[in-house]
Amino acid sequence: MKFFADTADIAEIRDLAALGLADGVTTNPSLVAASGRDFMALIKEICAVVPGPVSAEVAATDEAGMRREADVLRAIAGNVVIKLPLTLEGLKVCSALTAEGTQTNVTLCFSAAQAILAAKAGATYVSPFVGRLDDVGARGMGLIAEILEIYRHYPDFTTQVLVASIRSPMHIVEAARLGAGVVTAPPAVLRQLAVHPLTDKGLAAFVEAWAKTGQKIVS
Ligand code: G3P
Repeated sequence: MKFFADTADIAEIRDLAALGLADGVTTNPSLVAASGRDFMALIKEICAVVPGPVSAEVAATDEAGMRREADVLRAIAGNVVIKLPLTLEGLKVCSALTAEGTQTNVTLCFSAAQAILAAKAGATYVSPFVGRLDDVGARGMGLIAEILEIYRHYPDFTTQVLVASIRSPMHIVEAARLGAGVVTAPPAVLRQLAVHPLTDKGLAAFVEAWAKTGQKIVS
């Protein structure tokens, strides 16, 4: 199972990479805006820190515009993945880029029907947004189960399900139980995976007991 960092914060990416928790990175226009950084320079820097796939999203919504932007973005580094919206225009660009050997991530997926089209367009990744579905009272993880079930029937579908819009460690655990290949999560959620109150309580008790022994392992 791969973990991608869903952030455009370079300090966070460096920290997660050091922890072995950044197999890749996903960015989007909202995250780039929040970073306050120049987009091209930022993607270049992220690609130098993380050798895995780094998703950079096009800003245009028309086919010709997305195509032109994809050409610029993929020239930044060999590990750039072109992120495209799940629209008919985006799927056309996805098919063309796939034919040229460029990796793609089709984003803003909210239905199994859309995920089928992403696979037919040869997308490297499809990003279903589980948190945003939960927000409107739908079952985000239900969509992941549905897509994985459909993809399993068709060995010629090579698209990987990239579980996105993750809000809690339980989303990651549920994605793992379903066998999803990749999750992308905010840095805080990835770190939260390590946290358990009983671990903290147990460690405090061990530290206290050890102090009572008066011993040192390293003197
Ligand atoms: O990168 C896309 C996705 O993960 C966005 O998540 O929290 O804005 O719904 P969120």
